[in-house]
Amino acid sequence: MLNEQATERSRGALKAIAFAVLAIILAGCGGGENSGGAVDRPYKIGLMLPYSGTYAQLGEMIKQGFEMAIAEAGDSVGGRAVRYVRLDSEADAGRATRNMQQLVTGDNVDVVVGPVHSGVAMAMVRVAQQEGTLLIIPNAGLDAATRELCAPNVFRTSFSNWQPAYPMGRTAYERGHRRVVTMAWRYGAGQETVAAFREGFEAQGGEIVREIFVPFPEVAFQAQLTEIASLSPDAVFVFFAGGGAVQFVRDWHAAGLHRSIELLGSGFLTEGTLNAQGEAAEGVLTTLHYSEVLDTEENRVFREGFRERYGRWPDLYAVQGYDAGRLLVESAEAAGGTQDQARLIAAMERTELQSPRGPVRFSAAHNPIQNIYLREVRNGQNVVRGIAHEMLADPGTGCRLVQGR
Ligand code: BEZ
Repeated sequence: MLNEQATERSRGALKAIAFAVLAIILAGCGGGENSGGAVDRPYKIGLMLPYSGTYAQLGEMIKQGFEMAIAEAGDSVGGRAVRYVRLDSEADAGRATRNMQQLVTGDNVDVVVGPVHSGVAMAMVRVAQQEGTLLIIPNAGLDAATRELCAPNVFRTSFSNWQPAYPMGRTAYERGHRRVVTMAWRYGAGQETVAAFREGFEAQGGEIVREIFVPFPEVAFQAQLTEIASLSPDAVFVFFAGGGAVQFVRDWHAAGLHRSIELLGSGFLTEGTLNAQGEAAEGVLTTLHYSEVLDTEENRVFREGFRERYGRWPDLYAVQGYDAGRLLVESAEAAGGTQDQARLIAAMERTELQSPRGPVRFSAAHNPIQNIYLREVRNGQNVVRGIAHEMLADPGTGCRLVQGR
């Protein structure tokens, strides 16, 4: 009897050891499930953002906004503890493919969140398509990401370059402007932003008298400002962001152009930059999907929570990062976890966010449908002058997902 019990005990012990070994092997292969059906292995999130260079401040805000949303959910997504892999994109399109491959196949992340720069996005979207890894774009506006390059596993929580610029075309015309000069960095975001403004402005009957481009990320604008003064347009529409936006607005003011020519832009021109631009930004008119003064409960709670956590006020970039985190958390909850990617994607498509920017839902191409606000800088704030376009959707031209719906 005693012998039988001892044999039974040792069989039980052997079984327990076998299960433990199996669990270790499965966890190593990335497939371990606990008794509730949830995967034990951490949920790995690759953050591919610029932590250096002209867009470093934008990258930092997105990272903090994203991490805040995940922290509010107990640092877990769909019941799995989160582990971050952070990679500096340097806003360098030339390194983007290698960097993305490192995250996806080297670090084996479950999702990538990034980037800021449209050129970097082009490479990341291509790798995401090849590998099937979930990609959430928390800034880069590259139109193609949710048009001809759209994919089931690619979502964006920010904007397409077309979205904030197109409504400014009509606004400019309604303000009486007929002859406008445009100026931007010569790369995807600058070119697409200017094209969208042109589309909106010419549709009303306005004329673009000159398009000026400077290399990214150059911030020497004197020669172009002299040319603008000699053209004497009614208004100038520009795309610059981060450090370039600070420099451009200061130079514009120092050259005295603000006295005779109205300065217009997509809202990145005065976003996260107002402290550094100071007096020079007063009166600048922009269109964007956020304003710090939006009087909603969501915006108040978000702004105060961010300030408490990080000791500074958030900007649009932080909102876009926060919404990327919320999208992931809310969708994983609705899908009952992260194990089944098709289910997770279906939940992401259905998710509607009550964002600090206002309501956000996703188009068939996975791009946000959202309000575009007309803003004017007054006393160091982007004050809302009205809604330039209510719940604007990108056309999604060429996206197979749009045709499929
Ligand atoms: C872009 O490259 O897509 C971009 C960068 C900064 C602000 C807005 C757009």
